[in-house]
Amino acid sequence: MDSPLKPKSLSTNLFFLFLLLSTNFVTLFISSTFYSSSSCSLIPSKITLTTATTSEEAASTPTGSAQTTQHLPPEFLAFTSAQLLPFGFNANFDSDTILPPVGRPCTLFSDELLRYMTYKVNGSCPDDELLAQKLLLKGCEPLPRRRCRSAAQPEYVEPYPLPASLWTTPPDSSVVWTAYTCKSYKCLIERYRTHKGFDDCKDCFDLAGREKSRWTAKRSNDGLDFTIDEVLATKKPRTIRIGLDIGGGVATFAVRMMERNITIVTTSMNLNGPFNNFIASRGIVPLYISISQRLPFFDNTLDIVHSMHVLSNWIPTTLLHFLMFDIYRVLRPGGLFWLDHFFCVGEQLEQVYVPLIESIGFNKLKWVVGRKLDRGPELREMYLSALLEKPLNNSW
Ligand SMILES: *[C@@H]1O[C@H](CO)[C@@H](O)[C@H](O)[C@H]1NC(C)=O
Ligand SMILES: *[C@@H]1O[C@H](CO)[C@@H](O)[C@H](O)[C@H]1NC(C)=O
Repeated sequence: MDSPLKPKSLSTNLFFLFLLLSTNFVTLFISSTFYSSSSCSLIPSKITLTTATTSEEAASTPTGSAQTTQHLPPEFLAFTSAQLLPFGFNANFDSDTILPPVGRPCTLFSDELLRYMTYKVNGSCPDDELLAQKLLLKGCEPLPRRRCRSAAQPEYVEPYPLPASLWTTPPDSSVVWTAYTCKSYKCLIERYRTHKGFDDCKDCFDLAGREKSRWTAKRSNDGLDFTIDEVLATKKPRTIRIGLDIGGGVATFAVRMMERNITIVTTSMNLNGPFNNFIASRGIVPLYISISQRLPFFDNTLDIVHSMHVLSNWIPTTLLHFLMFDIYRVLRPGGLFWLDHFFCVGEQLEQVYVPLIESIGFNKLKWVVGRKLDRGPELREMYLSALLEKPLNNSW
């Protein structure tokens, strides 16, 4: 890419001046059309084609509304401002402009956004994974891009080769540990014995523990544990080839599928553990998106979507409804949705979730309801494991 700091000829400068003026005009137009409530704060005082690192520039941004005098960071404005396409109008875009996207709520969290977007352009990014993830989970997703180098270990050891990488704990030097209570894989492996309190997927990093038998050994658990092979047996051999695991922990599901020549992408957050690094070290593709984000796949494309323990009653019901329809959208006709250990409390299942799930339009291949007793029977928690199929015909 062209260095933005390179000296420019006179004609180039005139061209950029033209760009600046027209870009500002487009920004003004778009801002006042779509962001009328906060239009002024979204108009940059100037489009920074060069590097902008101080927040003084943001402070000089004209802000109209008195109560929200939020000063958006210059790098945020540089990224999100309307960018004119160098070759003008493009029929595919139906526009001559790109508006690089960030989560709509990003600007609501101005303090965190200012910290996140304050860095030296072309320098090292701050080591701020926790801040970034909190912003993202609250709704600033996608996060804005940054023009800096993300934190990394000074010395990185390359991963183990396949297939050894699938079941080997990676070296600690593949992770920046700042954001986590544990500072090593040894600590993560032992934490379910040594650490009190709750952690997501607390025992998952121990590949010699429970992970070893998930989805392969039939457990006597009221029939809630389907095995991968019994699920695959519901379809013609080798027609389940590609898919997605939502909130897949350390991606053991994808590993077991890879052993069957099936390619699964695994979404995961890094909730008090380097889940994404660990998944990648095993040789599986990690996808760092939350449950709020539209699935980045085209309609009618995936053979299977799996999700265990994640889609449950902690998700706001309307969001869950949108999410289920998004799963239906990305599955191809005849594709499978394995809802694995969905949980909720008592009558919620019959009153809220069964009607919600049934309304999407899947065929039920398996449907098992059981009691969730790990936190005590008095909580009246329920599990649902279901194998659902998008209809092969008339799915629309
Ligand atoms: C950007 O950073 C790299 C590495 O530090 C350096 O080699 C390069 O000269 C810098 N470029 C600019 C335009 O500052
Ligand atoms: C996976 O594919 C490889 C290469 O085509 C083949 O040798 C192997 O038998 C396949 N394994 C399974 C479980 O289908």
